[in-house]
Amino acid sequence: MPATIILGGQWGDEGKGKLTDALAGAAQMVVRANGGSNAGHTVKTDRGTFKLHLVPSGILNDSVLCVIGAGVVIEPGTLVTELRGLMDRGIDVSRLRISDRAHLVLPYHPALDRMLEARREGDEIGTTLRGNGPAYADKVSRHGMRVCDLVRPDILRRKLAIELDAKNQQLTTLYGDTPFDFDEVYRQLLEYGEVLAPYVTATEVLVQDQLAQGSQVLIECAQGAMLDIDYGTYPYVTSSSPTAAGACQGAGISPKQVDRVVAVYKAYSTRVGAGPMPSELQDETGELIRVRGNEYGTTTGRPRRTGWFDAVAARHTSRLNGVTDVAMTLVDVLDVFPEIKVCCGYQVDGAPMNHVPALVDDLERATPVWNAMPGWEVDTTGMRTFAELPATLKGYLFEIETILDARVRFVGIGPAREQLIDRDHEAA
Ligand code: GDP
Ligand code: IMO
Ligand code: MG
Repeated sequence: MPATIILGGQWGDEGKGKLTDALAGAAQMVVRANGGSNAGHTVKTDRGTFKLHLVPSGILNDSVLCVIGAGVVIEPGTLVTELRGLMDRGIDVSRLRISDRAHLVLPYHPALDRMLEARREGDEIGTTLRGNGPAYADKVSRHGMRVCDLVRPDILRRKLAIELDAKNQQLTTLYGDTPFDFDEVYRQLLEYGEVLAPYVTATEVLVQDQLAQGSQVLIECAQGAMLDIDYGTYPYVTSSSPTAAGACQGAGISPKQVDRVVAVYKAYSTRVGAGPMPSELQDETGELIRVRGNEYGTTTGRPRRTGWFDAVAARHTSRLNGVTDVAMTLVDVLDVFPEIKVCCGYQVDGAPMNHVPALVDDLERATPVWNAMPGWEVDTTGMRTFAELPATLKGYLFEIETILDARVRFVGIGPAREQLIDRDHEAA
């Protein structure tokens, strides 16, 4: 059976965790493909609310094998803490597998993240300060250390000595920061390596074996396609590829092995951190969305910026990712609005612009062209079928289908597992 990719169509936090958990019920394997502990995926179950950072959101389904793929960067301490937290809550984590090719986020990466942000003096990216950017930079410049190094004490010692020395020089001379002590870092990593070693394997082999056996494999991306390193609002982006292409690379499969790309979009827009967001609302409507949607970062607790749905950005990401199915989430947040707006185009210096420009300076000057439509003003949180949804809301969803050129299959009307309508599996 071919694989299904689940990705974010906006700036992250679209509800990927919840959808992954829901679809995992019918899958044998869930693979996290990119990002690191900058991600925060919330899953609400009858066992409580789980905020996952590195562990795939399939872990709460008892029989699903969960894989942290080669495209992920892993801060081993965070992973150990996350695994212990899950075990304490009775979750069986023996179903986790960690790619031996995944890169490590080491103590100097968050330190460098902080220094690099401080250097931007007023032009910060607003990163999660988890060290993701510096870790991916080391990977690409071939100075990275990987999980396969972590579980081999002799190799770890040799490589860490070289890398830590270079990073200490950088931290002390360039940034006036305190150096890391080799013995301390090495000892701590050895401990983490021992805990994680039983889970470490060549996950690309496992994933391919599952696909060959006809299993249903879900690939879970972190972040959102508007944060993509190539097609997002560079430099206000993350350092990986939260796209369908990135998902294949991060999980270790070929594009030929994918038959569904499910993109998760909120019914409006949010963004954490800096960077252009043409449909942003800095008024009481934006505040009401923030309050109703509880729009505060899962990882950092920062208030998320809010705005109406940006159709230009959404079309950009649906096309780049070959989206086959749309999950429209947090629809219930809009239940009280008498009027809903969609940003259907941009104006830049008086001229229309209907794509996302490369230069953020241009996007910063973009003003939205609004398309207003009536709201539904009905509580949708108890609805369980597409048929029940108010006609005005269906009109909104059909409008989005036209924009994205893809069918809205899932509709989220609340954070709980049962508050997800699947148009293809409705009670008659
Ligand atoms: P992710 O990073 O894409 O997995 O999303 P996050 O977990 O960071 O943020 C999504 C937030 O919205 C979480 O608090 C979810 O519990 C919540 N959520 C997901 N779907 C819905 C929905 O349809 N309605 C409401 N009200 N909340 C939702
Ligand atoms: P999930 O998977 C929302 C944002 C940061 C910042 C930019 C770069 O939960 O959707 P980074 O730490 O990656 O170098 O920060 O990317 N960002 C996210 N925003 N959801 C996320 O993940 C994010 N991961 C990174 O806020 O603007
Ligand atoms: Mg999140």
